[in-house]
Amino acid sequence: MPSLYRLASQRRLPPGFCVVGTSRDGISDQRFRSMMHDAVAQFLEDSPLDEQLWPDFARNLYCVSGDFNDRQLYGSIAQKLDELKQRNLLFYLATPPSFFETIVAGLGEANLAREEDHAWRRIVIEKPFGRDLESARCLNQAVHRVFAEPQIYRIDHYLGKETVQNILAFRFANGIFEPVWNRRFVNHVQITAAETIGVEGRGGYYQEAGALRDMIQSHLLQVTATIAMEPPAAFDPETVRDERARLLRAIKIMTADEVRENAVAGQYRGFRQEKDVPPDSMTETYAAVALQIENWRWAGVPFYLRTGKKLMRHVTDIAIQFNDAPLAMFGPGTAETAHPNLLIVRIQPEEGISLRFLSKQPGSGMRLRPVSMDFNYGASFGERGPAAYETLLLDAMAGDPTLYTREDMVEASWRAVQPILDEWSHRKFDFPNYEPGSWGPKEADQMLARRGHQWRNS
Ligand SMILES: NC(=O)c1ccc[n+]([C@@H]2O[C@H](COP(=O)([O-])OP(=O)(O)OC[C@H]3O[C@@H](n4cnc5c(N)ncnc54)[C@H](OP(=O)(O)O)[C@@H]3O)[C@@H](O)[C@H]2O)c1
Repeated sequence: MPSLYRLASQRRLPPGFCVVGTSRDGISDQRFRSMMHDAVAQFLEDSPLDEQLWPDFARNLYCVSGDFNDRQLYGSIAQKLDELKQRNLLFYLATPPSFFETIVAGLGEANLAREEDHAWRRIVIEKPFGRDLESARCLNQAVHRVFAEPQIYRIDHYLGKETVQNILAFRFANGIFEPVWNRRFVNHVQITAAETIGVEGRGGYYQEAGALRDMIQSHLLQVTATIAMEPPAAFDPETVRDERARLLRAIKIMTADEVRENAVAGQYRGFRQEKDVPPDSMTETYAAVALQIENWRWAGVPFYLRTGKKLMRHVTDIAIQFNDAPLAMFGPGTAETAHPNLLIVRIQPEEGISLRFLSKQPGSGMRLRPVSMDFNYGASFGERGPAAYETLLLDAMAGDPTLYTREDMVEASWRAVQPILDEWSHRKFDFPNYEPGSWGPKEADQMLARRGHQWRNS
């Protein structure tokens, strides 16, 4: 809703735009508008809500009542949309995932999914899309019974982030990076999504999901695909998604033995005392994996992905570490091997890109020090970029699915994590194994150390 409000305030919504919400509490339109006013005022990030603009936006908000399990709800939605003379419809399932199938079937029965007379009907499905490969396949089948694939928009809000989109511009609009973007020059890649907060009252949800499902299967694999995919032949939705899908399919599927070597689970001390979390919970609040991508570009280059709650810093970034210079010619023990070139794409909290390289320190003698060449989004463009949801909502309305996940992408990413899910489902971990405010379990450090690498924990 804050993103829709922002789009409205920039006059980017189409004429006649309206929102019909649903509630099981019998909320009137007036009450819904006032609830949304307070929520938008609370959650707008940069600027306060403009009270002059609000009434224009709010008069297009409506609410109908009913339970997702009750067919009447879908009849009421259809009736309301008819009254409002709405033809192009975007259904947005910001609902518990257990209702996705029920709602899709309900929309189908109420004849709300059929596109006719040039009117479009689309559906946005929130994450998580399934909880393993099997359930994701079943969900795909269930949604396909009602909506065709081009009507389906599976949202992964990471793909809507400016910096993640900028990876495509960085890689494919510039001539100098792509030639070194491969196994000959890249030593390894680290992708980190670290949070300082814990489960924040969502212990019940998190207990069922865990870090691997919640972050790695979805967001971090999509980021990996963006960083590692082959250049698409054209910048059109299906060509870009084809390349992302191809990359996800190239991820090596681990055996159970390989899972033990290449995946680490962690749980912070205190998780078991959170509300709705059992005292012997084996759910991971931290996950780290070492992936291999089996294609000519990346064979032998580890991609380390990690995510966790209650870690030392709130940061999401991608670090591409390049090989050392072939010869350390500035004397023994110099900085050349201790500080290899590093390209860092910062996704959060401050969006930007920096390149680390060695420089001569001023003064006599040849002493070297790492320095950094920085690009900062805010400083360079001087304006706030759109929030991920603004970009994604507008794209869905415009019928551009480039930043949404396709059926084959979602299944390929589940396939990549499935052996880890299987192995962890019966493992008895020695949890808790990391302290809040640390960088996670020591096993994750050991996993990299075995390959002569270490996490960037600065
Ligand atoms: N993209 C991300 O990173 C991210 C992060 C968090 C969540 N999500 C996803 O976003 C979606 C929404 O999350 P959420 O935390 O807002 O979910 P939620 O609180 O569990 O549920 C959303 C809404 O569904 C309604 N609802 C539940 N059961 C219903 C029923 N039987 N009939 C009618 N309405 C019912 C709830 O109404 P009541 O208020 O009446 O209970 C609530 O308003 C989920 O799919 C979640 O997984 C995504």
